[in-house]
Amino acid sequence: MKIIKSKNKLQKVINNEKKIGFVPTMGGIHLGHLSLVKRSIKECNKTIVSIFVNKSQFNKINDFNKYPRNLKKDIKWLKKLKIDILYLPSEKDIYPKGPKKNIKLHSFAKTLCGKYRPGHFKAVVDVVERFIKIIKPSRIYFGEKDIQQLKLVENYIYPIYKDINVVECKTIREKNGIAYSSRNLLLNKKQIKIASKVYKIIKINKKKILVSSKFLKIVKNKILSIGVKKIEYLKVVNINKVIKPFKKKERNKILLSYYLEQIRLIDNI
Ligand code: PAF
Repeated sequence: MKIIKSKNKLQKVINNEKKIGFVPTMGGIHLGHLSLVKRSIKECNKTIVSIFVNKSQFNKINDFNKYPRNLKKDIKWLKKLKIDILYLPSEKDIYPKGPKKNIKLHSFAKTLCGKYRPGHFKAVVDVVERFIKIIKPSRIYFGEKDIQQLKLVENYIYPIYKDINVVECKTIREKNGIAYSSRNLLLNKKQIKIASKVYKIIKINKKKILVSSKFLKIVKNKILSIGVKKIEYLKVVNINKVIKPFKKKERNKILLSYYLEQIRLIDNI
Protein backbone atom coordinates (compact mmCIF):
# COMPACT_ATOMS: atom_id res chain seq x y z
CA MET A 1 0.00 0.00 0.00
CA LYS A 2 1.39 3.38 -1.05
CA ILE A 3 0.54 6.35 1.11
CA ILE A 4 0.39 9.45 -1.06
CA LYS A 5 -0.14 12.97 0.15
CA SER A 6 0.16 15.02 -3.00
CA LYS A 7 -2.20 15.28 -5.95
CA ASN A 8 0.66 15.46 -8.48
CA LYS A 9 2.35 12.36 -7.16
CA LEU A 10 -0.95 10.49 -7.07
CA GLN A 11 -1.73 11.36 -10.66
CA LYS A 12 1.72 10.21 -11.75
CA VAL A 13 1.30 6.87 -10.00
CA ILE A 14 -2.19 6.14 -11.38
CA ASN A 15 -1.39 7.44 -14.83
CA ASN A 16 -3.49 5.60 -17.46
CA GLU A 17 -4.90 3.02 -15.08
CA LYS A 18 -8.20 1.94 -16.59
CA LYS A 19 -10.32 0.48 -13.86
CA ILE A 20 -9.85 2.35 -10.62
CA GLY A 21 -12.13 1.75 -7.67
CA PHE A 22 -12.36 4.67 -5.28
CA VAL A 23 -13.57 4.65 -1.67
CA PRO A 24 -13.83 8.18 -0.25
CA THR A 25 -13.77 8.35 3.55
CA MET A 26 -13.22 10.77 6.38
CA GLY A 27 -11.27 8.15 8.34
CA GLY A 28 -12.43 6.48 11.51
CA ILE A 29 -12.30 3.33 9.39
CA HIS A 30 -14.77 0.65 10.48
CA LEU A 31 -16.15 -2.61 9.12
CA GLY A 32 -18.64 -0.69 6.97
CA HIS A 33 -15.77 1.02 5.13
CA LEU A 34 -13.88 -2.25 4.89
CA SER A 35 -16.78 -3.92 3.09
CA LEU A 36 -16.67 -1.12 0.49
CA VAL A 37 -12.93 -1.58 0.14
CA LYS A 38 -13.22 -5.35 -0.27
CA ARG A 39 -15.81 -4.93 -2.98
CA SER A 40 -13.63 -2.44 -4.84
CA ILE A 41 -10.65 -4.80 -4.66
CA LYS A 42 -12.81 -7.57 -6.11
CA GLU A 43 -14.23 -5.47 -8.93
CA CYS A 44 -11.38 -3.14 -9.95
CA ASN A 45 -7.74 -3.22 -11.04
CA LYS A 46 -6.62 -0.67 -8.49
CA THR A 47 -8.26 0.48 -5.27
CA ILE A 48 -7.70 3.95 -3.88
CA VAL A 49 -9.02 5.00 -0.47
CA SER A 50 -8.96 8.63 0.60
CA ILE A 51 -9.05 9.97 4.11
CA PHE A 52 -9.99 13.63 4.21
CA VAL A 53 -12.09 15.20 6.96
CA ASN A 54 -13.95 17.64 4.78
CA LYS A 55 -14.44 20.70 6.96
CA SER A 56 -16.92 22.41 4.64
CA GLN A 57 -19.53 19.66 5.07
CA PHE A 58 -19.72 20.14 8.85
CA ASN A 59 -22.31 22.61 10.03
CA LYS A 60 -20.86 22.98 13.50
CA ILE A 61 -17.17 23.55 14.13
CA ASN A 62 -17.47 21.48 17.30
CA ASP A 63 -18.72 18.50 15.27
CA PHE A 64 -15.71 18.88 12.95
CA ASN A 65 -13.28 19.13 15.86
CA LYS A 66 -14.74 16.11 17.61
CA TYR A 67 -14.93 13.92 14.50
CA PRO A 68 -13.06 10.69 15.34
CA ARG A 69 -9.53 10.64 13.93
CA ASN A 70 -7.22 7.68 14.30
CA LEU A 71 -4.90 7.62 11.34
CA LYS A 72 -2.55 4.97 12.77
CA LYS A 73 -5.35 2.45 13.19
CA ASP A 74 -6.88 3.38 9.83
CA ILE A 75 -3.55 2.75 8.09
CA LYS A 76 -3.15 -0.61 9.84
CA TRP A 77 -6.58 -1.82 8.71
CA LEU A 78 -6.19 -0.63 5.13
CA LYS A 79 -2.71 -2.16 4.87
CA LYS A 80 -4.13 -5.51 5.94
CA LEU A 81 -6.62 -5.39 3.09
CA LYS A 82 -3.81 -4.58 0.66
CA ILE A 83 -5.37 -1.59 -1.01
CA ASP A 84 -3.13 -0.03 -3.66
CA ILE A 85 -3.12 3.59 -2.57
CA LEU A 86 -4.17 5.54 0.50
CA TYR A 87 -4.56 9.17 -0.50
CA LEU A 88 -4.24 11.69 2.32
CA PRO A 89 -4.65 15.01 0.55
CA SER A 90 -3.98 18.40 2.00
CA GLU A 91 -6.69 21.06 2.18
CA LYS A 92 -4.80 22.90 -0.59
CA ASP A 93 -4.75 19.92 -2.94
CA ILE A 94 -8.51 19.63 -2.73
CA TYR A 95 -9.46 23.29 -2.45
CA PRO A 96 -6.80 25.40 -4.16
CA LYS A 97 -9.35 28.23 -4.34
CA GLY A 98 -11.75 27.17 -1.57
CA PRO A 99 -15.04 25.23 -1.82
CA LYS A 100 -17.46 25.87 -4.70
CA LYS A 101 -20.47 28.02 -3.93
CA ASN A 102 -22.67 27.44 -6.97
CA ILE A 103 -23.44 23.72 -6.99
CA LYS A 104 -27.06 23.01 -7.90
CA LEU A 105 -28.59 19.93 -6.34
CA HIS A 106 -31.99 18.27 -6.63
CA SER A 107 -34.51 19.55 -4.06
CA PHE A 108 -34.15 16.23 -2.19
CA ALA A 109 -30.99 17.85 -0.78
CA LYS A 110 -33.16 20.23 1.24
CA THR A 111 -35.15 17.49 2.99
CA LEU A 112 -34.26 15.06 5.81
CA CYS A 113 -30.58 15.64 6.78
CA GLY A 114 -30.42 18.59 4.39
CA LYS A 115 -33.13 20.40 6.33
CA TYR A 116 -31.05 20.26 9.49
CA ARG A 117 -27.64 20.63 7.88
CA PRO A 118 -27.96 23.44 5.33
CA GLY A 119 -25.25 23.28 2.67
CA HIS A 120 -24.06 19.87 3.85
CA PHE A 121 -24.85 17.93 0.68
CA LYS A 122 -23.47 20.65 -1.59
CA ALA A 123 -20.19 20.37 0.28
CA VAL A 124 -20.25 16.56 0.00
CA VAL A 125 -20.94 16.60 -3.74
CA ASP A 126 -18.31 19.32 -4.21
CA VAL A 127 -15.58 17.27 -2.54
CA VAL A 128 -16.61 14.03 -4.28
CA GLU A 129 -16.44 15.77 -7.66
CA ARG A 130 -13.00 17.17 -6.82
CA PHE A 131 -11.79 13.65 -6.03
CA ILE A 132 -13.32 12.37 -9.28
CA LYS A 133 -11.39 14.96 -11.26
CA ILE A 134 -8.13 13.98 -9.57
CA ILE A 135 -8.54 10.19 -9.55
CA LYS A 136 -10.81 9.52 -12.54
CA PRO A 137 -12.22 6.33 -11.04
CA SER A 138 -14.55 4.03 -12.92
CA ARG A 139 -16.34 3.00 -9.75
CA ILE A 140 -16.99 4.92 -6.53
CA TYR A 141 -18.19 3.05 -3.48
CA PHE A 142 -20.73 4.42 -1.00
CA GLY A 143 -22.54 2.86 1.94
CA GLU A 144 -26.29 2.45 1.91
CA LYS A 145 -26.30 3.78 5.46
CA ASP A 146 -25.92 7.32 4.10
CA ILE A 147 -28.64 6.73 1.54
CA GLN A 148 -29.55 10.38 0.99
CA GLN A 149 -25.90 11.22 0.32
CA LEU A 150 -25.61 8.30 -2.07
CA LYS A 151 -28.74 9.24 -4.03
CA LEU A 152 -27.70 12.87 -4.32
CA VAL A 153 -24.22 11.93 -5.49
CA GLU A 154 -25.72 9.59 -8.13
CA ASN A 155 -28.18 12.24 -9.26
CA TYR A 156 -25.43 14.83 -9.66
CA ILE A 157 -22.68 12.62 -11.05
CA TYR A 158 -24.46 10.46 -13.62
CA PRO A 159 -25.45 13.14 -16.15
CA ILE A 160 -21.92 14.61 -16.13
CA TYR A 161 -19.63 11.60 -15.72
CA LYS A 162 -21.15 8.94 -17.94
CA ASP A 163 -18.37 6.37 -17.39
CA ILE A 164 -18.56 6.34 -13.63
CA ASN A 165 -20.54 3.86 -11.61
CA VAL A 166 -21.71 4.75 -8.13
CA VAL A 167 -21.79 1.45 -6.27
CA GLU A 168 -24.17 1.07 -3.35
CA CYS A 169 -22.91 -1.25 -0.63
CA LYS A 170 -25.09 -2.81 2.03
CA THR A 171 -25.13 -1.39 5.55
CA ILE A 172 -22.99 -3.44 7.89
CA ARG A 173 -24.30 -3.73 11.43
CA GLU A 174 -22.82 -4.67 14.75
CA LYS A 175 -24.35 -7.70 16.49
CA ASN A 176 -26.57 -5.35 18.48
CA GLY A 177 -28.03 -3.92 15.26
CA ILE A 178 -26.23 -0.57 15.25
CA ALA A 179 -25.02 0.41 11.79
CA TYR A 180 -21.24 0.89 11.70
CA SER A 181 -20.38 4.57 11.63
CA SER A 182 -17.29 6.56 12.59
CA ARG A 183 -19.45 8.46 15.04
CA ASN A 184 -20.14 5.27 17.02
CA LEU A 185 -16.67 5.73 18.51
CA LEU A 186 -18.09 8.70 20.40
CA LEU A 187 -20.86 6.67 22.10
CA ASN A 188 -20.64 5.47 25.70
CA LYS A 189 -22.02 2.11 26.88
CA LYS A 190 -25.41 3.48 27.82
CA GLN A 191 -25.77 5.26 24.50
CA ILE A 192 -24.83 2.11 22.61
CA LYS A 193 -27.64 0.26 24.39
CA ILE A 194 -30.13 2.98 23.46
CA ALA A 195 -29.00 3.07 19.82
CA SER A 196 -29.37 -0.69 19.63
CA LYS A 197 -32.91 -0.43 21.02
CA VAL A 198 -33.80 2.28 18.50
CA TYR A 199 -32.78 -0.04 15.67
CA LYS A 200 -34.80 -2.92 17.10
CA ILE A 201 -37.93 -0.81 17.66
CA ILE A 202 -37.93 0.28 14.03
CA LYS A 203 -37.05 -3.12 12.66
CA ILE A 204 -39.87 -4.81 14.61
CA ASN A 205 -42.43 -2.15 13.65
CA LYS A 206 -41.42 -1.53 10.05
CA LYS A 207 -44.31 -3.46 8.50
CA LYS A 208 -46.89 -1.65 10.63
CA ILE A 209 -45.35 1.72 9.79
CA LEU A 210 -45.51 0.97 6.08
CA VAL A 211 -49.18 0.02 6.35
CA SER A 212 -50.19 3.08 8.38
CA SER A 213 -48.20 6.26 8.77
CA LYS A 214 -50.12 6.87 12.02
CA PHE A 215 -47.92 4.22 13.49
CA LEU A 216 -44.90 6.48 13.01
CA LYS A 217 -46.09 8.62 15.89
CA ILE A 218 -46.36 5.62 18.19
CA VAL A 219 -42.85 4.50 17.22
CA LYS A 220 -41.52 8.03 17.70
CA ASN A 221 -42.94 8.12 21.21
CA LYS A 222 -41.45 4.71 21.95
CA ILE A 223 -38.03 5.93 20.86
CA LEU A 224 -38.37 9.07 22.95
CA SER A 225 -39.30 6.94 25.98
CA ILE A 226 -36.01 4.98 26.01
CA GLY A 227 -33.65 7.92 26.51
CA VAL A 228 -33.48 9.61 23.12
CA LYS A 229 -33.93 13.33 23.75
CA LYS A 230 -34.38 14.53 20.21
CA ILE A 231 -35.50 12.97 16.94
CA GLU A 232 -34.81 15.17 13.92
CA TYR A 233 -36.82 13.05 11.53
CA LEU A 234 -38.37 9.62 11.20
CA LYS A 235 -39.84 9.23 7.74
CA VAL A 236 -40.82 6.64 5.18
CA VAL A 237 -39.20 7.30 1.82
CA ASN A 238 -39.65 5.30 -1.37
CA ILE A 239 -36.01 5.65 -2.18
CA ASN A 240 -36.28 4.32 -5.74
CA LYS A 241 -38.85 6.94 -6.71
CA VAL A 242 -37.78 10.07 -4.88
CA ILE A 243 -34.90 11.12 -7.12
CA LYS A 244 -33.39 10.01 -10.44
CA PRO A 245 -32.09 7.51 -11.41
CA PHE A 246 -35.50 6.00 -10.64
CA LYS A 247 -35.88 2.26 -10.40
CA LYS A 248 -38.98 0.22 -11.13
CA LYS A 249 -39.14 -1.60 -7.84
CA GLU A 250 -40.75 0.07 -4.82
CA ARG A 251 -38.19 0.37 -2.05
CA ASN A 252 -39.64 1.86 1.08
CA LYS A 253 -37.14 2.69 3.74
CA ILE A 254 -37.55 4.27 7.13
CA LEU A 255 -35.01 7.05 7.43
CA LEU A 256 -34.17 8.57 10.75
CA SER A 257 -31.86 10.97 12.49
CA TYR A 258 -31.67 11.44 16.23
CA TYR A 259 -29.42 12.71 18.96
CA LEU A 260 -27.85 10.96 21.94
CA GLU A 261 -26.60 13.93 23.96
CA GLN A 262 -24.49 15.83 21.39
CA ILE A 263 -23.98 12.87 19.08
CA ARG A 264 -26.09 12.81 15.94
CA LEU A 265 -26.85 9.40 14.46
CA ILE A 266 -28.59 8.49 11.23
CA ASP A 267 -29.83 5.19 9.89
CA ASN A 268 -32.26 3.71 7.41
CA ILE A 269 -34.03 0.43 7.80
O1 PAF B 1 -19.57 9.71 3.85
C1 PAF B 1 -18.51 10.33 4.09
O2 PAF B 1 -17.66 9.87 4.86
C2 PAF B 1 -18.26 11.68 3.45
O3 PAF B 1 -19.45 12.39 3.31
C3 PAF B 1 -17.51 11.61 2.12
C4 PAF B 1 -18.32 10.89 1.07
C5 PAF B 1 -16.17 10.91 2.32
C6 PAF B 1 -17.25 13.02 1.58
O4 PAF B 1 -16.46 13.77 2.46
